[in-house]
Amino acid sequence: MTTDLDALFSAALGARAQAHAPYSRFPVGAALRDEHGRIHSGCNVENAAYPVGTCAEAGAIAAMVAGGGRRIRAILVLAAGARLVTPCGACRQRIREFADPATPIHAAGPGGVLARFTLEELLPASFGPETLG
Ligand code: THU
Repeated sequence: MTTDLDALFSAALGARAQAHAPYSRFPVGAALRDEHGRIHSGCNVENAAYPVGTCAEAGAIAAMVAGGGRRIRAILVLAAGARLVTPCGACRQRIREFADPATPIHAAGPGGVLARFTLEELLPASFGPETLG
């Protein structure tokens, strides 16, 4: 049986295969489920002007917003590092914009999911839309 997590994993794996990462040689895929149950994916897109490159999570979030989604119910990031790959600091903040403290953030390798965190665990005492009042 295909679970919700399997679907996120497959989407992230497919997106990672499309990554443009000639500089770091570190392809990353991300996939998220929105409030409509739709899955959106993204990959890292690097640039010869290095700081212009974008993370996989940013691509998945942009796809969600363009597709009409506004809430992240779950997100998964997939890479093949020797160490567990979790979203970078900037991407934690990007996720924060559209997620709740309890939203699951899954870290996966090519063989499967390795760890599960919540947004609150990865970005405690965070700044968000409601902070602005
Ligand atoms: N990267 C992501 O796409 N997501 C992460 O969560 C960590 C890092 C990308 C950025 C860059 O293209 C490459 O991985 C190496 O840092």
